[in-house]
Amino acid sequence: MDHFPILQALCRAALSQPTPAIRKQVERLRDALAKDGDSKSSGALSSLLTAADRNVEMAPSRITTSRSQIPGEILTRNTPVPVDKETSAPLAELIFPNETNMQGPIFEKSIHQAIMSLVEEWNSFDRLADVGVHPSRSCLIYGFPGTGKTRLALWMATKLDLPVVSVRIDGLISSFLGTTARNIGNLFAFANKYRCVLLLDEFDAVAKLRDDPQEIGEIKRVVNALLQNLDIRRDVGITIGITNHQNLLDPAIWRRFEVQLQIPRPDFDTRIKLTENFMYPINAPREHLKLIAWFTEGSTGAEIESVVRSYKRSSVIKNSDGDGLIDTLRQFAILNSARLEPSRRSLLFAEAGHLFKVLHEDEKLDFSYEDIGDIAGKDKSSISRAIAKV
Ligand SMILES: Nc1ncnc2c1ncn2[C@@H]1O[C@H](COP(=O)(O)OP(=O)(O)OP(=O)(O)O)[C@@H](O)[C@H]1O
Ligand SMILES: [Mg+2]
Repeated sequence: MDHFPILQALCRAALSQPTPAIRKQVERLRDALAKDGDSKSSGALSSLLTAADRNVEMAPSRITTSRSQIPGEILTRNTPVPVDKETSAPLAELIFPNETNMQGPIFEKSIHQAIMSLVEEWNSFDRLADVGVHPSRSCLIYGFPGTGKTRLALWMATKLDLPVVSVRIDGLISSFLGTTARNIGNLFAFANKYRCVLLLDEFDAVAKLRDDPQEIGEIKRVVNALLQNLDIRRDVGITIGITNHQNLLDPAIWRRFEVQLQIPRPDFDTRIKLTENFMYPINAPREHLKLIAWFTEGSTGAEIESVVRSYKRSSVIKNSDGDGLIDTLRQFAILNSARLEPSRRSLLFAEAGHLFKVLHEDEKLDFSYEDIGDIAGKDKSSISRAIAKV
């Protein structure tokens, strides 16, 4: 399209303060370009829309930092972290997420909003305390592996402009009786001394001690140490716990976290956004993003990232006798047999007409024969013939 770069710049400028009307018009333009077969330009507009979404949802300008309610000394890269006395293994790692250009994770709108309001609360301790409200300072994030929990916790710390004291479970759990509880005490004492977010990532590992009947006394000591320290920390600083195995956690520990945030697997629209995000810097056609999102039903962000990696690889190393995206997905399905949902996975290996029919009839995809032809590297009439044969 002639003059598209100017149009793109115009859209970018308009989307810096997006209103629903502006969004709608840019979406119209994107869809019209896609319909005309200009997938490159429509892909570029999709990227602008996604970027605008994220800026609105995660806009730092909505947050004003308040420092006085999170007391403590300033952590630096040179601050020595406590170690296990027996093994000298560090009990924590210091992460300064605001020094990296960390992008926020991508979630459904309702989860984004809940997270934003929590972060805003954490940033408004003073004002809330003035009106007699004392916001929660602890949050347990739980959900399937690879759904973006760790990334979320680090991003939240960035928004609070605080460094992270992240527990090193390998250092914390000691084989010496009584030492794990002492390590927990030392870790919390360290975190309480500094202005920081204490991150207890994968800390259900401490609960695993339970599997061993010899360890009943030890697990009791560990759980008690955790409970006591969480209670003390409650009035001192922010604590984020993360677990994939919420059922392993002692219910008393679970209750100590005032906010409990479940991260679900992404829905279809979120999967499109994730696909587009991981695609960068490739501008994939909208139909490709949708198809990847469709095939990754039930997958996590980490799994989608892995499909997109395959896509990028094959877009660089093009196989001359391959048939486009379907071929890439098929190869991915062979090499990652457990990653795709079985019924969708089997479609990739069924008769082509059958797959085309399902794609054509799916309401979410809303694919024309032409779209499917583009994806499969065939023309429109071959698609309609293949479908007719089924
Ligand atoms: N919602 C998401 N938004 C953006 N990236 C995501 C999302 N979910 C997963 N990812 C990507 O997947 C990878 C794993 O994410 P992360 O480590 O945060 O997951 P996790 O839930 O902590 O997993 P685990 O439970 O295995 O520790 C990262 O590379 C991250 O970029
Ligand atoms: Mg993690």
